Amino acid sequence: MTNDPLIRPIPEHIEDRPKAAAARLLIGGPVVLLTSAWRGRTNVMPLAWHMPISTDPPMLAIAVERSRHTAEIIQHSQEFALNFPTRPLLHHVQYLGAMHGDRVDKIEATQLETFQPQKVIAPLLAACAAWVECTVVEVMPLGDHILFVALIAAVQVDPESFDDGWILGPEETRPLHYLGGTRYSFLSRVVEARVPQAADAPERILRERLAEELELTKDARDKREERLDALKREVEAGRALDLTGLELEISPEHVLDLTHGHVLGEPPRE
Ligand SMILES: Cc1cc2nc3c(=O)[nH]c(=O)nc-3n(C[C@H](O)[C@H](O)[C@H](O)COP(=O)(O)O)c2cc1C
Repeated sequence: MTNDPLIRPIPEHIEDRPKAAAARLLIGGPVVLLTSAWRGRTNVMPLAWHMPISTDPPMLAIAVERSRHTAEIIQHSQEFALNFPTRPLLHHVQYLGAMHGDRVDKIEATQLETFQPQKVIAPLLAACAAWVECTVVEVMPLGDHILFVALIAAVQVDPESFDDGWILGPEETRPLHYLGGTRYSFLSRVVEARVPQAADAPERILRERLAEELELTKDARDKREERLDALKREVEAGRALDLTGLELEISPEHVLDLTHGHVLGEPPRE
């Protein structure tokens, strides 16, 4: 043990995971549909392992497993395009990740509409929200994947989805985020961080903000517990209906807001 107040004992609730779990912790950026083409044949595969690596010149890298048909095509063509799918393409994404382009023409099979790219040969998928065309500058076999390092040759976006960043407007305009297996998610809202001014002591400000946030969370939790206890008492006394047996389908987007309701039997709130 040390006297440093910031070093705590290892928390009891945390668990070990296999090393492979690191990739699932890291993924979460928008999943893309990677299109590629070589000698008149096109292919498309979902890809979650991508990252920006340079702003000047603009570059990114993708990791494609060696056995993918896509890996073979890119090694020949030295280029590809990233298409950013949204909610309506959810099932297409999963399907395209289960098929191999050497056995089936996936663009033909899914009837996905395409349009002309600006700089590469690989077609762009019309139903997407943004498109990034890339030319490969380095190919690095690493473990069972191949890292393709690429220059960004063109970027196009649908302004309904993206201005300077993802807008997070209507669900069908938001990008899909891959969580692994068959699970995907959306970003649901934007929160703005407050930036401490030069004159402020950043550590103190951060500590205060954290304490503030924790206090807010605790307060909300306490209030919820109180409301639930009151409701439970009303149900037990037969004065309110127990809805827990009903199958209400509420998505995370549509959380029930009970703040303006009141427990049956209680006088209405002011
Ligand atoms: C959402 C999702 C993300 C994926 N991300 C990757 C990835 O980053 N790299 C990779 O090699 N395979 C990834 N895969 C698997 C390939 O997309 C899948 O094996 C596909 O069938 C390969 O197609 P191909 O053989 O036609 O290239 C992903 C699959 C899904 C469903």
